[in-house]
This record gives sequence, C-alpha cells and structure tokens, in this order.
Amino acid sequence: MAKQKLTLLHFLLHAAIFYAPAFSATFTLTNNCTYTVWPGLLSGAGTAPLPTTGFALPPSESRSLPMPSSWSGKLWGRTLCTQDPQTSIFTCATGDCNTGTLECPGGNAAIPATLAEFTLSGSAAAQDFYDVSLVDGYNLPILISPVGGSGPNCTNTGCASDLNKPCPTDLRVNSESDGRVAVACKSACGAFDKPEFCCQGAFGSPDTCKPSTYSEMFKSACPRAYSYAYDDKTSTFVCGSSPDYVITFCPSSSSAAASVRPKNWDNGTSPAVGGGYDWNGKMVYDGLDMMSSGGRRHVYGRYSAAGLMALWMLSWMGRV
Ligand SMILES: *[C@@H]1O[C@H](CO)[C@@H](O)[C@H](O)[C@H]1NC(C)=O
Ligand SMILES: *[C@@H]1O[C@H](CO)[C@@H](O)[C@H](O)[C@H]1NC(C)=O
Ligand SMILES: *[C@@H]1O[C@H](CO)[C@@H](O)[C@H](O)[C@H]1NC(C)=O
Repeated sequence: MAKQKLTLLHFLLHAAIFYAPAFSATFTLTNNCTYTVWPGLLSGAGTAPLPTTGFALPPSESRSLPMPSSWSGKLWGRTLCTQDPQTSIFTCATGDCNTGTLECPGGNAAIPATLAEFTLSGSAAAQDFYDVSLVDGYNLPILISPVGGSGPNCTNTGCASDLNKPCPTDLRVNSESDGRVAVACKSACGAFDKPEFCCQGAFGSPDTCKPSTYSEMFKSACPRAYSYAYDDKTSTFVCGSSPDYVITFCPSSSSAAASVRPKNWDNGTSPAVGGGYDWNGKMVYDGLDMMSSGGRRHVYGRYSAAGLMALWMLSWMGRV
C-alpha cells in the first residue's frame, strides 16, 4: 500500500519535472481608457488553446492571462460593443471578431484595428518577438511593456496617440450612432485595397513596397508601430529571458482620448476626444518611455499543471 503510494507520487513528480512548463509568460491586460474595452485574442496556427479569447475589461481594471508556452498570435481591443436584447448577438463598432459572442474563438479583428502581435519563444534561452501594428488600421492606443526581459530591443512599444480625431477624412471611420465622431482610422491598404499600399503582387517585397504618404502619417504619429507591411526595422521588438508582458489600452496621457461611447451600456465618464496629438509626431513618445521595462521577474509561470496535480495528490493521499 505504502509502496503503491510512493510509486504514484514518484510518477507524478516525474511528470511534473519532464512535462513542465505548461505556461511560460503572463500577459496583464490593463484598461486605462475612460471607456470599457473588450479585448479579443487570436492564436496562430498550432498553438495551445488560450484561457480566454475575449472578455470585457472595464476602465481601470486589469486581467492577467497565463499564456501557453510558445504562443504566437495577436490581441486587440474591441470598442463600443453591445449585445442585442432580442437576438443576444454581441457586436462591436470597432475590432469586432464576428463571432456574435463575447469570446472570439478563431475570430479575427475586423479592420481597422490596432494590433498587438507576439511570437513567444517558450524558452528563456531564445527570444520573443512582439510589435504593435497599424497595418490593419487603428482604433485605440495600445502599449506593450515587457517585464523582466533582456536585450537592447526589449523595450516598450506601441502607439500611445489618439489617431482617430486627426485621421484624414478618406481614412476615417465614424460612429454609426453619431456619424460625426471618429471611432477608427483605416490604413491606406484597408481604405483603397491597392497593391502598392497592401504590398501585394508586383509590390510584394521590401524593395518594391515603399511607405506611402498615408503610412508616413501613421509612422510620424507612432514611430515604433508598424505603419505598413515592410516596416520591420523600426517596429519589431525582441526580448530574451522570457519576460511577462503588460498590455495597456490608452496608456498615460492619451488615456482620455478615444472614441465615442453609446449612452446605454456603461456608466463611466464620456470619453473626451483630443489630447493635442497631431500627425506631426510631437509628443509621440508620451507613455512609451515612462515605464521602465526592467525590474521584477515574474514569480509564477514555472509551475506546470502536472506539478500542481502532484501537490494536490500528495495532500489527498495524506488524507486516506
Ligand atoms: C535592435 O537593436 C539593433 C542593435 O542594437 C539595432 O540595430 C536595431 O535597429 C534594433 N531594432 C529595433 C526595432 O529597435
Ligand atoms: C495606467 O493607469 C495607472 C493608474 O492610473 C497608472 O499607474 C499607470 O501608469 C497607467 N499605465 C500606463 C501605461 O499609462
Ligand atoms: C447605468 O446606470 C443606470 C442608473 O444608475 C442603470 O439603470 C443602468 O442599468 C446602468 N447601466 C449599466 C450598463 O450598468
């Protein structure tokens, strides 16, 4: 009997050691907007399922997500979401994932939407890649801050500016409820679907696809974010040592600037539009450099499910 228990315990500890870690990094999503944001997450092919693919994040709230090891995929913020009282269908004015539900299993962000993109290495010895992209347009400010990573390019990135208000008319998306308020800003590719803007066909290489006057506007407002498909050099960030990541919607001074919010679904303060940001690139680093990326290592993330199972079995066996 005692020997049997020991063998089982041995097996479980063995499993804990050799099948760990199930999770490698923690993403903390923080909403510093004055309005509710509904994050959506989409995994790349072949990665383990996420704990959630979509949820509501009220103003000044945070949610931590244990990410699967070696996860790659993107996340974004949906805005101005509502559930139809008759049909229960859930839709969002920007970033909608077209699932009709709060969760976004397999659902991609409707453009235009600001995207936070990740390729996690799943190993402290290898490197994570991440970026904030305006290639599919812009709907709200996003900042990515690595916590505890290493390397010269392991820094904050993102787009802290409000680009909705200064968005040129031919790219601008106005709210449906109040057609005068800008809620998102298309990329030139999204607006005009031309090969030279989308880097397709004859323009499908870094040599032939060049920045356009439109992408240059995005770049001057948000120099660290991707402004067109081949903007890699200044827009891809790299961390060693498997950091955790804080992803903030509406970081710092742009937190008050955003889009309209219909009157009937949350009771926060009405988002103001503005903030003094312009396409001229002034103040663009606001909120990007303020937060240091060094410091605390994450404490959790190295315990595997098998390890927790072993501990649970241990206490359970002690009782029988
Ligand atoms: C990464 O670092 C290298 C060398 O420090 C530099 O040449 C490169 O431009 C950096 N890339 C980014 C995206 O900052
Ligand atoms: C988000 O808001 C909190 C509380 O006001 C603040 O401490 C934090 O610095 C903000 N984060 C960013 C990235 O602006
Ligand atoms: C907003 O507040 C009003 C009045 O307090 C309440 O009736 C309504 O249900 C609230 N709406 C939401 C979405 O919480």
